[in-house]
Amino acid sequence: MQTVTLIPGDGIGPEITNSVVSILKEAGAEIEWDIQSAGADVIEQEGTPLPERVIDSIKKNKVALKAPVTTPIGKGFRSVNVQLRKALDLYTNLRPCKNIDGIKTRFDNVDLVIVRENTEDLYAGIERQIDENSAESIKIITKKASTRIAEFAFDYAVKNNRKSVTAVTKANICKLTDGLFLNCAREVAEKYSNIEYKEILVDNLCMQLVQNPEKFDVLVLPNLYGDIVSDLCAGLIGGLGVAQGANIGKDIAVFEPVHGSAPDIKGQNKANPTALLLSAIEMLKYINQTEIAQRIEKALFCVLKEGKILTTDLGGNSTTAEFTNEIIKNLK
Ligand code: NAI
Repeated sequence: MQTVTLIPGDGIGPEITNSVVSILKEAGAEIEWDIQSAGADVIEQEGTPLPERVIDSIKKNKVALKAPVTTPIGKGFRSVNVQLRKALDLYTNLRPCKNIDGIKTRFDNVDLVIVRENTEDLYAGIERQIDENSAESIKIITKKASTRIAEFAFDYAVKNNRKSVTAVTKANICKLTDGLFLNCAREVAEKYSNIEYKEILVDNLCMQLVQNPEKFDVLVLPNLYGDIVSDLCAGLIGGLGVAQGANIGKDIAVFEPVHGSAPDIKGQNKANPTALLLSAIEMLKYINQTEIAQRIEKALFCVLKEGKILTTDLGGNSTTAEFTNEIIKNLK
């Protein structure tokens, strides 16, 4: 039995968490959940959206499954996600993007992996108001963080039989910061002679991704470009409802979907739990419950391929509960 920290989040978080927990239970996952609330709903009682107990729980259990939490825009608290990634030094954001049978998109041959640096860049949170009419934000890029993210990307490529790693920057404009990121990637690339190394500017990448996404394999990016490009790639495979992710550090991993808390559909039994379920499947593989992971994956892909019971974001008219039950039925 493995203890895993479970953060149900807010917005649609609790609905999709219920769905995923019940599927994992029915599939026989050997998990004891250490449930830790975080986000907007705990601010009133605990004074912060990310109480220390949440971080302590993840440090103890080393693995967590996290549903989305709301971050108020423009003012108030720093994003729980950004804080969590910093506090636990979860330096990699890993987002595999692969077409799923049955989910119609403009493409049917997308199979790429985004490796996003997770701890610095403009997300360092160093901002100041200069005067009434201007503000500034500092972009931090270090050799340490750039080298370790490039190493992660190349290691991942080797372990997962990938052919190439492409470093993505805007080094023609941000010569010092993105230039440093690129130099680190080049240095790391020299140690991996079996993996092809390529470079591309982020604007050109965006254009090419929406024309020929099959050209790309593993992409390694600084934080901000990684954030934006991973949503673009989520769109290539059917949208946020099916895009999984993980935040990985030296010996801690937090699995979470790419999407946010979707306040517009909160409490309507409409949310698609697929992205959180795919994240949970990756988590099961990470904790060596691979057979159970594969059983769930098979059931999920079967329901998606059949296309009869789908949530509205995928063009269906079924509820979260109906979709969940259909996956459970297919486990048998
Ligand atoms: P969002 O991802 O929550 O929603 C964007 C659109 O996609 C909405 O129309 C929503 O209904 C739809 N959508 C998202 N997930 C869905 C799902 N599972 N099933 C069906 N439809 C889905 O992005 P938005 O609106 O920019 O952010 C809302 C809140 O979420 C913000 O407070 C933001 O800070 C937070 N957020 C949290 C994240 C996290 O906890 N990891 C990640 C991204 C945003």
